[in-house]
Amino acid sequence: MRLPLIAANWKMNKTTAETREFITEFLPLVDGVKDVEIVIAPAFTSLPVAAKFLKGSNVKLAAQDVFWETEGAYTGEVSPLMLKDVECTYVIIGHSERRQYFNETDEIVNRKIRAAQEADLGIIFCIGETLQEREAGETLQVLKRQITEGLKGLSAQGLVIAYEPVWAIGTGKTATPEQAEEAHSFIRKELKTLYGNEAEQIRILYGGSVKPDNIASLMAQPNVDGALVGGASLKPDSFSKIVRFKEP
Ligand code: PGA
Repeated sequence: MRLPLIAANWKMNKTTAETREFITEFLPLVDGVKDVEIVIAPAFTSLPVAAKFLKGSNVKLAAQDVFWETEGAYTGEVSPLMLKDVECTYVIIGHSERRQYFNETDEIVNRKIRAAQEADLGIIFCIGETLQEREAGETLQVLKRQITEGLKGLSAQGLVIAYEPVWAIGTGKTATPEQAEEAHSFIRKELKTLYGNEAEQIRILYGGSVKPDNIASLMAQPNVDGALVGGASLKPDSFSKIVRFKEP
């Protein structure tokens, strides 16, 4: 049994005051939810305030990125140790926006995952094809490359995968449940090649325009184990509805 994981990716949104306001409103809305692991990933600057207000709740904290060294002369970077220090449980690695705007390669992603594993952080490892790659029929090939290169030489420790087709992120175009399941079952097969039976325990999240009204049909697919939610996670009401997808 894989416990569903629903994570909010706030991207570059919310000040510390807005973070506190969100959490104060959100926690009562998800009070008592135990059958879903709930995660929020604010900007670095909001991690300490989020940690403080989430303390003792059923919501865990994630960062949106990490550097691969522990300390040193790397201006502007944040290390896995620093994320542990502000009580992060997870870190998102390899988001398509990092790959696209900040030139993150599979090799960089691999180093970051290794460092996060060494620090005992959970990892939400993002993969997904662009529209151009999908239209060229290259989706599965791209996923295979991202998995093989991103996880090269690494164990499955702390690993969660997020399948996010780039064409579905922030566009309002969600993958159909069938398209998501096709990708997710392929990803599971690749994970089996790498990790054998352990692959059955790895959660594979879907991301890309997840909303309260499409989450249930996505979650109904056998290999969809949760969601990484951007836009619809910025409001307590819509994110809590996504978390409570099982309730009518
Ligand atoms: P979206 O973003 O829900 O706004 O499409 C998802 C993501 O990029 O993680």
